Amino acid sequence: MLYNLVRSVLFKFDPEKAHDLSMRQLSRHHHFPFDYFYRQNIPDNPVEVMGLTFPNPVGLAAGLDKDGECIEALDAMGFGFIEVGTVTPRPQSGNPKPRLFRVIPAQGIINRMGFNNKGVDNLVENIKAARYRAVLGVNIGKNKDTPIEKGLEDYLICMDKVYQYAGYIAINISSPNTPDLRSLQYGEALDELLGGLKKKQQELAEQHGKYVPLALKIAPDLSFEEVDQVAQALLKHGIDGVIATNTTLDRSLIFDMPHAGEDGGLSGRPLQNRSTLIINHLKNKLEDKLPIIGVGGIDSAMAAREKQQAGAQLVQIYTGFIYKGPELIKEIANAL
Ligand SMILES: Cc1cc2nc3c(=O)[nH]c(=O)nc-3n(C[C@H](O)[C@H](O)[C@H](O)COP(=O)(O)O)c2cc1C
Repeated sequence: MLYNLVRSVLFKFDPEKAHDLSMRQLSRHHHFPFDYFYRQNIPDNPVEVMGLTFPNPVGLAAGLDKDGECIEALDAMGFGFIEVGTVTPRPQSGNPKPRLFRVIPAQGIINRMGFNNKGVDNLVENIKAARYRAVLGVNIGKNKDTPIEKGLEDYLICMDKVYQYAGYIAINISSPNTPDLRSLQYGEALDELLGGLKKKQQELAEQHGKYVPLALKIAPDLSFEEVDQVAQALLKHGIDGVIATNTTLDRSLIFDMPHAGEDGGLSGRPLQNRSTLIINHLKNKLEDKLPIIGVGGIDSAMAAREKQQAGAQLVQIYTGFIYKGPELIKEIANAL
């Protein structure tokens, strides 16, 4: 109810301004009594996935809190896990503005942010300062100006720096807003990337005496054949989980709506069915050997249950959270 009022004010602003304003308030006002407005008591419903215990299966998807500035406020809302990032080795400003658009009739968002973030060192400081109960995922990527052939190096730098502070590490090779990034999802490039990441994980596990699982985040625009190849590569390299999916380039469900012509990735309801299909296909290929984190257009308990039935052990929300607010976490957590 309260969020309806907040949203009606926020939606009067340019989308990125509304985002920045909300994040600023949440990062400043995460203590009593201000947290009264969003703190939720969500009964424990622990789930064991990738060797971790999640207090409940509802997570925040990557991209909302790229720099880990609001971990405590998001934790107070009751998320079972929070994925911060995508973070890159060096800070970068992202694409020129405007780069974020609401597609209101479809309850969607188009974004071409381009990994705007303050860099991995800043993220690590923010994580160290935060107190939280949720599992913390750290989503890592490459800088725009790092050539794609050297992409692995960027992932390794980030892995090294976040390893001891992360519950799990998400490898983002599926954002449509960094040139060539998605090429890492195929063939030899994927094989090399996963091999390099796995080797680093083994070294870091020994060094820190702690095993931090790796999850690969994939795009919804892969063909089923390509998904099969990804699944095979995940199993071959012993990657710990898969996050399906990122945003889509497809505009067929919103072609006549405002902003449909904007470049970038589309999220929210128009992505719902496609990401469910990918999850279902992955589940059949992976035969329960690897857990799936389902994300894409989850905006109700029913949509979350569909993801679960398709094969997801955990779910994440982003666009639904923007449209519906913290109550969506509770609605889904109570239903799963
Ligand atoms: C504005 C915006 C920024 C995003 N940034 C990232 C990001 O930095 N890294 C990432 O892996 N996914 C990012 N995503 C994708 C989401 O994490 C999620 O995979 C996608 O939006 C589908 O979920 P949804 O329909 O619930 O939003 C972003 C999404 C949006 C809307």
